[in-house]
Amino acid sequence: MAKRKPIISGNWKMHNNHFEAIQLVQKLGYEITVDDVEHVEVTVHPPFTDLRSIQTVIDADRIPIGLGAQHCHFEEKGAFTGEVAPSMLAKLDVEYVIVGHSERREVFGETDDDVNKKVKAVIKAGMTPILCCGETLDEREAGQAEAKVEAQVKAGLAGVKKDDVAAMVVAYEPIWAIGTGKTATADDAQAMCAVVRATVSEVAGAEAADAVRIQYGGSVKPGNAPELMSQPDIDGALVGGASLEAESFARIVNFRLADAAS
Ligand code: PGA
Repeated sequence: MAKRKPIISGNWKMHNNHFEAIQLVQKLGYEITVDDVEHVEVTVHPPFTDLRSIQTVIDADRIPIGLGAQHCHFEEKGAFTGEVAPSMLAKLDVEYVIVGHSERREVFGETDDDVNKKVKAVIKAGMTPILCCGETLDEREAGQAEAKVEAQVKAGLAGVKKDDVAAMVVAYEPIWAIGTGKTATADDAQAMCAVVRATVSEVAGAEAADAVRIQYGGSVKPGNAPELMSQPDIDGALVGGASLEAESFARIVNFRLADAAS
């Protein structure tokens, strides 16, 4: 199996104004070294209003962290009050865009079709989508977790070229684990990430499935990251709460050191 480089992404959600964002990224610059990112790719996804400031700091201080966004529209321009186009993000050196986060789906009504259009628009603008999927607690208890995730992955990737799928990131985030402190067990997370990979194989072929990176998200913390990250189909983490504090995020990024020490 090809060795996939893990990717740890901090989803800041609606936290940190641009002054706070600069401070957090500067702290991360002390905590995360060039040596660390040889083993793990690291991205942060601040609110839109912070992007320009963070781009400047990352550039000036040569901080080895990639810039990400949390969302965008699929259209290039037009009468879409409040929305941001993919090309506007690309112009700010944004490399990754989270697409279809469960909060976007549940709170803002994004459909699978919207998500698919956004995946394609992000790729067209030269960036990489982080496509999110995951089941609710009710769906899990009803034995529908796998079917839900399969359907979301298939819909999100519909019509996307195999090579583009191969370069993407998919984040499996059980909704009941997001921000709740309840993490999926490493076995459950692995089983679901294996379902994601099998679904990618079905829609884009075995090579794309082998290359695509799959993150687990949902209450990832320094303490549970090493076990989650040791699973064969988990290639990274999408981290919410624990990414708002430099030290805890850096400890997650350096999960392999904790693993070696334990
Ligand atoms: P959490 O959020 O780490 O706070 O559970 C994860 C996410 O929503 O991406």
